[in-house]
Amino acid sequence: MPPLVILGSARPDGDTRRAVEIALTHSANLIFLAQHNIGNYDYAHGNDGDEFLRIVDEMLANETIVFATPVYWYAMSAQLKTFFDRLSDLTETAKAKGRSLAGKKVWVIATGTEDILPEGFEVPFRRTAQYFAMNYRGCAYLYMGSDVATRADSEAALARFGASLG
Ligand SMILES: Cc1cc2nc3c(=O)[nH]c(=O)nc-3n(C[C@H](O)[C@H](O)[C@H](O)COP(=O)(O)O)c2cc1C
Repeated sequence: MPPLVILGSARPDGDTRRAVEIALTHSANLIFLAQHNIGNYDYAHGNDGDEFLRIVDEMLANETIVFATPVYWYAMSAQLKTFFDRLSDLTETAKAKGRSLAGKKVWVIATGTEDILPEGFEVPFRRTAQYFAMNYRGCAYLYMGSDVATRADSEAALARFGASLG
């Protein structure tokens, strides 16, 4: 079964989409978060009718979930962070769905222009996966800075990462 890719970029055909295509040469189901109506976390659950739970259902229907995000200001994108905040709903109003995430494989693909990911970048992914008893498998980084040789090395490493993703 192809992985489910949850793409958190602010643009549909940017660097992060390209990174996904380098890593996943075979097919993947792709959800571009910015095209979906997903409200911020609300203590009163006023946005229960938005598209958040539909995307969770897609996660439940897949064994492997890839979170793909650019680095924006040293962290995951706002689109993806909003989605992560809403995972709280799975501990409150939709607990059964939250429990059903157990055992899913989780990978991360990130893009940025600095040489390496900021310190601590992976922590929210690893810890959130652990929280829901998902199996965190690691993070690949596509360097999009101006050094041509580093870009080529980074692309090759990302392709190898994709090959191991099964
Ligand atoms: C709002 C914004 C903030 C950014 N902050 C960082 C950053 O903190 N570190 C970094 O390495 N690159 C940063 N970048 C560069 C992007 O991560 C990089 O260009 C990335 O490849 C863009 O992917 P996209 O085309 O999917 O948006 C930033 C770009 C934008 C637009």
